[in-house]
Amino acid sequence: MFSLASSLLLLLPLPLTLAVNLGPTKPIRTRFKNLVTFGDSYTDVVITGDCGVSWPTYAAGYANLKLFPFARAGGTCSNNLTFRPFPSVMETQVPNFVGGTKNRSIPRLNPAETLYTLWIGTNDVGASALLSGDGKPGVSVVDTTACAVNWVKVMYEHGARNFLFQNMIPLELTPIYSAAGYPNRYWAFERNATEWSVFMTELTKSGNALSKLMLQDLAPRLPGAHIGLFDSHGLFTDMHAHPARYLNGTAPLNVTGSISACVFQIQGTLDTAACTTATGTDVDSFLWFDELHPSEQADRMVAKAVVEAMAGSRKWTMWLS
Ligand SMILES: *[C@@H]1O[C@H](CO)[C@@H](O)[C@H](O)[C@H]1NC(C)=O
Ligand SMILES: *[C@@H]1O[C@H](CO)[C@@H](O)[C@H](O)[C@H]1NC(C)=O
Ligand SMILES: *[C@@H]1O[C@H](CO)[C@@H](O)[C@H](O)[C@H]1NC(C)=O
Ligand SMILES: *[C@@H]1O[C@H](CO)[C@@H](O)[C@H](O)[C@H]1NC(C)=O
Ligand SMILES: *[C@@H]1O[C@H](CO)[C@@H](O)[C@H](O)[C@H]1NC(C)=O
Repeated sequence: MFSLASSLLLLLPLPLTLAVNLGPTKPIRTRFKNLVTFGDSYTDVVITGDCGVSWPTYAAGYANLKLFPFARAGGTCSNNLTFRPFPSVMETQVPNFVGGTKNRSIPRLNPAETLYTLWIGTNDVGASALLSGDGKPGVSVVDTTACAVNWVKVMYEHGARNFLFQNMIPLELTPIYSAAGYPNRYWAFERNATEWSVFMTELTKSGNALSKLMLQDLAPRLPGAHIGLFDSHGLFTDMHAHPARYLNGTAPLNVTGSISACVFQIQGTLDTAACTTATGTDVDSFLWFDELHPSEQADRMVAKAVVEAMAGSRKWTMWLS
């Protein structure tokens, strides 16, 4: 009787509080003191994609780092390749960093104590860029990926030595690019959602395979550099497949919809859209904030994984040099 009862007990799901690894409760110790971030709305600390606290702000808190944030919402790697009217990495963000070091609004950062990160690609491969045929003529994911990898070389020439290159998430799982996608605030025009998700799968997987090969090729040519390849694709695939390990809100766990979801009419506007909004403690049940952006809870998990990488974890990070 007793042994039957205890083996039955083992088959019951663990209470949420035991099953979920929720993040650091005390600061994670690393040799790094500074975090310098580049990218798009996934990393912007002012216009945050999750409409809450961004991952760099969480990471700086978790590991007690000084944050120098250069990522800007809407950005691509280069507006010369995929033009969007937003501040791109190469034409705006890197010049802002270089200008800031020259006029000393940014202090001298000890290269050994400073990690430089780049998370880019979502806008480069997305709607209004490569996916919808809106890149410059002849530009492909080969060019946008080469541009992102070249950021490592450019920053190395400006004195950076420690890099974390965050690859693209499986964008085909976001509501905007999934096969179940509906017209939304980012794209309210006719399109075939099945074809978008198929093409997006190709773009994210091939872009990530290329960036890995290109970084492996670059690493031996940058003496003294340490380059980590952070597998955002793997982390988000895992969050999508095993939400109970990451999400902890009070609503049913949800990896297909979003906290702020608006189903538009074709060519419609927000005032005729059908919107649902999760609030309070329900929001931490969602993987996505809206049709395009990770939720704040997903971003806490990104922050945790990044600071664990800084402390030497290889779970989501492959060190190429
Ligand atoms: C979920 O976990 C995070 C830490 O990762 C915590 O800050 C947050 O308050 C939790 N959310 C809920 C609804 O308990
Ligand atoms: C973008 O084009 C401008 C003007 O031709 C050029 O000065 C700049 O170097 C280009 N940027 C990149 C990243 O190639
Ligand atoms: C320093 O340069 C940066 C980048 O060009 C600029 O944004 C900032 O306003 C400048 N600060 C001062 C004090 O001149
Ligand atoms: C969308 O594309 C898929 C794959 O090419 C095709 O099977 C399907 O018929 C298309 N749907 C519409 C409504 O055109
Ligand atoms: C997930 O969220 C969407 C709102 O975006 C909602 O329509 C859907 O019913 C939710 N799914 C589950 C399993 O709760």
